[in-house]
Amino acid sequence: MVLDLNDYVASYDDFPKKGVKFRDISPLMEDGKAYKQATDEIVAYAKSKNVDLVVGPEARGFIVGCPVAYELGIGFVPARKEGKLPGETVKASYGLEYGESSLYLHADAVKPGQKVLITDDLLATGGTIEATIRLVEDLGGIVVGTAFIVELADLHGRDKIKDYDILSLMKY
Ligand code: PRP
Ligand code: ADE
Repeated sequence: MVLDLNDYVASYDDFPKKGVKFRDISPLMEDGKAYKQATDEIVAYAKSKNVDLVVGPEARGFIVGCPVAYELGIGFVPARKEGKLPGETVKASYGLEYGESSLYLHADAVKPGQKVLITDDLLATGGTIEATIRLVEDLGGIVVGTAFIVELADLHGRDKIKDYDILSLMKY
């Protein structure tokens, strides 16, 4: 039976700031069948792109990307927030619907020429994905696709990454 994944996304008004409608994929993750269906759709997309490596931004990008990498038998690289990664890193700063942040990758995490899929739970303004793309490309990776469970179409995040292929399982 194919599930309607819209039934597994919760909405909260005014979180974490007044005026923001927060879309929460916790119900989807808590339901094994819904989580598997979402993961399988992204795995099929990744296979169509011959992906070598999955990269996901902290924290919710890990939840989406790790099972995809596991299923494909390829590596997963976490793009981490400030103060988390030891050793040599590359950094990208960006704005969000509710603040500002920076992401880092280990300088040797992506090898030049590797075909990379970037995963996240949600595309909003596109700041996070655009910063993650910058990091991967700084290291010589080729971003062959981006995959999200939810896209907030009103925030026009896809306009920031016009040159990249996007899979979003649900749009609001
Ligand atoms: C959320 C979400 C995406 C990002 C989307 O992460 O998981 O990564 O915002 O917004 P954008 O398209 O406007 O950049 P958040 O920074 O809240 O971190 P978290 O995953 O640690 O909760
Ligand atoms: N990240 C950025 N904007 C968001 C929203 N409205 N809901 C959930 N995560 C988000």
